[in-house]
Amino acid sequence: MSPTRQILVTSALPYANGSIHLGHMLEYIQTDIWVRFQKLRGHQCWYVCADDAHGSAIMLRAEKEGITPEQLIAKVQAEHTADFADFGVAFDNYHSTHSEENRALSAAIYLKLRDAGHINTRSVTQYFDPDKGMFLADRFIKGTCPKCGAEDQYGDNCEKCGATYAPTDLKDPRSAISGATPVLKDSKHFFFKLPEFAAMLKEWTRSGALQEAVANKIAEWLDSDTGLQEWDISRDAPYFGFEIPDEPGKYFYVWLDAPIGYMASFQNLCAKCPELSFDAFWNKDSSAELYHFIGKDIVNFHALFWPAMLEGAGFRKPTALNVHGYLTVNGQKMSKSRGTFIKARTYLDHLNPEYLRYYYASKLGRSVDDLDLNLEDFVQKVNADLVGKVVNIASRCAGFILKGNEGVLVDANPEPELWATFQQAAPSIAEAYEARDFARAMREIMALADRANAWIADKAPWALNKQEGKQAEVQAICALGVNLFRQLVILLKPVLPKLASDAEAFLRVAPLSWTDLSTPLANHQLNAFSPLMTRIESANIDAMIEASKEDLAAEAPAAPAGNGELVKEPLAPEINFDAFAAVDLRIALIEKAEFVEGADKLLRLTLDIGDAKRNVFSGIKSAYPDPSKLEGRLTLYVANLAPRKMKFGLSEGMVLAAGPGGEEIFLLSPDAGAKPGQRVH
Ligand code: MSP
Ligand code: ZN
Repeated sequence: MSPTRQILVTSALPYANGSIHLGHMLEYIQTDIWVRFQKLRGHQCWYVCADDAHGSAIMLRAEKEGITPEQLIAKVQAEHTADFADFGVAFDNYHSTHSEENRALSAAIYLKLRDAGHINTRSVTQYFDPDKGMFLADRFIKGTCPKCGAEDQYGDNCEKCGATYAPTDLKDPRSAISGATPVLKDSKHFFFKLPEFAAMLKEWTRSGALQEAVANKIAEWLDSDTGLQEWDISRDAPYFGFEIPDEPGKYFYVWLDAPIGYMASFQNLCAKCPELSFDAFWNKDSSAELYHFIGKDIVNFHALFWPAMLEGAGFRKPTALNVHGYLTVNGQKMSKSRGTFIKARTYLDHLNPEYLRYYYASKLGRSVDDLDLNLEDFVQKVNADLVGKVVNIASRCAGFILKGNEGVLVDANPEPELWATFQQAAPSIAEAYEARDFARAMREIMALADRANAWIADKAPWALNKQEGKQAEVQAICALGVNLFRQLVILLKPVLPKLASDAEAFLRVAPLSWTDLSTPLANHQLNAFSPLMTRIESANIDAMIEASKEDLAAEAPAAPAGNGELVKEPLAPEINFDAFAAVDLRIALIEKAEFVEGADKLLRLTLDIGDAKRNVFSGIKSAYPDPSKLEGRLTLYVANLAPRKMKFGLSEGMVLAAGPGGEEIFLLSPDAGAKPGQRVH
C-alpha cells in the first residue's frame, strides 16, 4: 500500500434556505464513500463541509418567515446535519459560511487580491426596487419577454421562447419581491480581474485536475472570442453577508465567500485538533491533496474563479475537482407533482439509507452524465444484490456454526482457490474506488458474491448436515463461507458502514479495515446472528412517493394568485389606516365554481360583485373537492387587486380564506343578510 497520504475533501456547501433532497444526496454519498475508502486504507483523510448561509435569497426567506437570517440558518443547519448523519455521511467538520473564520479568511483573501492589484471598481447600472430599497438580482425581476411577448418571465431568460436578455430589455418590468416598478440606479461595484489568470487557468484545467468533459467545457469559455470577463464580487446593502473591508455598505457576493467556506470549515476543525495544521494543507507548496466534489451546475465557480482567487491570494490550488451529473428519478427531472422530488427526511422516514447508498454506488462512475434513480430498478437491485447475495451468505452459514459448534468458527480453508480469487480481486476493487468508479467496484464485488454463493450451493452444507459424520465438513464449509462474507463486508464498508458495523458485532471483531482482507478468522467465537438487512417492500416506495406529494401540499401556499396566502405567518408589520383602506374588500356571490383543466390546485370562480362579474382563480381545490357546493355562497373578495395573467387565463382579484393549506382551507363568509357588492370596512 502507498505511504500515508494527507487528503482534504469537500462537498459543495448546501444553501441554508432549503431542505436536502435526494439530488443533493448523490453528491454527499459519493463524497462520503470516497472518504471512507481512503480512511479504510489507512490514509489521513479529512472531510469538511458547511452550510452556505449568505445571499439575498436567505435574507428574503428569513424576512418572510418573520425571523432573523441567523435564526433561519441555525434552524436549517440543524435540519441538514441531522439528514446527513442519518444517511451515514460522516463529516469530520460541518460549519457555516456565516462564521468568524470565514469572515476573517474572506477579508484576508480579498485584501491580498486588492493589494496585488487584482480588484477593479466601476459603476454598474441596475434595476432597483424603490419600495424595498434594494437592487434586484435578475431572478427577482419579472416582466414581459422582449422577444415573444410571454408575460411573467424572469429578468435573464424567457421560459417560453428560451431567449436570453438583460433585465433592462424586459417590457413592463416589476419587482418579484414587492411588485413595484423598478427604477434604474447606479452604484459602485467591485470586480475580480479574472482575465489576469487566463494563462494559469489554461494550464491548470489541463493538468489532470478536471475530468476531460469538464476541461473541454472550460476550454470553450477560455478560448471564446469574448474570453474571460471580470467577475462582479460585490453587492449593495441590504444584503446578508460580509461587509467588504474599508467599503461600508458594500458586501461580498455570496459566491465570493462560499468556497472560502471550505477553508473556514477546515480552520475550525484545526482549532479542535491540535495535531492538524491549517498551513500544511493550504500553503502554496503544500504536499497535501485537496479535492472538491461538486455538481456540474457550479463548475465555473470551482474551475475558474476559485483557483484564480487561491492563486492570487498566494494559496495552493485544488488537486482535482470531481464533477457529477444531475439526478433524475424514473428518467425525469425530479417533480413535485409526481412525488419524485423526494426530501432526504422523507426517504429516511420510509427506507433504510444504505439501500440508497448502495444504489448510488452501483451507478456512479467518473462521468459527468446525469444519473437516474429508477425506483423499480432500485428495489430489484438492492434486493437481489444486498439481501439476495451478500447477507444471504452469512445467513446460510451462521446457523450451522452457532448450532453445530457453539458459535465457534473453525480453522479451515476447504477451497484455497476461491479464497485466492477474493484476495486477487481486492487490488482492482481498490483501484476502482480510488478512481471513483464505484460502479465497477460494485460489479466486481457482486461477482465475488456470486462465486461464494455458487460454491456454497454446490457444497450444500444443509444437505451434509443431515448426514452422519459430516459435521467437520459442514463446519469447514461454513467457516469459509463466513470468511468470504467478511471479505465482502470489508470491500463494501465504504458504501455500507451500518451493515459493516452490524456485521462486526456478529463477527465479534474490532472495526474492520482494508488490511484485514489478508487475515481470515480462525478458531473464533461468533455472536448470535440477526438478519443484517431486509428486503425493500414496494409499499414503502409508494408511501414515500405519497408523502412527497403531501410535503408539497403542506408547503405550497396554495396557488400564486386568486387566494389568501396559506402559510403560517407571524404578524405582519403594522400599517396605518390609510394602507388598510386602500384595500377594496367586497362581498361576492360565488355564482359558479369549477375545476380547471390541467391545474392541480385551482378552482375557477365566477363571482357576482353586485354590478359586475369577475373571474378568479383560487388555489382552494384541495379543500373543496366538490366545487359545486360553493355555488350560491357569499364570500369576501379583494376587488382592487391588479389582475394577474395566469396560464389558464386572467385572475381578477382574489377571495379570502384562512388555514394552513391542503384540506384545511376555510373560505370566509359574511353573516346572513350581506349583499354582493357591499364594501367590507
Ligand atoms: N451553495 C452552492 C454551493 C457552494 S460551494 C462553495 C450550491 N448549493 S446547492 O444546495 O444548490 O447544491 C449543493 C450541491 O448539490 C451542488 O454541488 C449541486 O450540484 C448538488 N445538487 C443539487 N441538486 C442536484 C441534483 N438534482 N442532482 C445532483 N446534484 C445536485 O450550489
Ligand atoms: Zn420569450
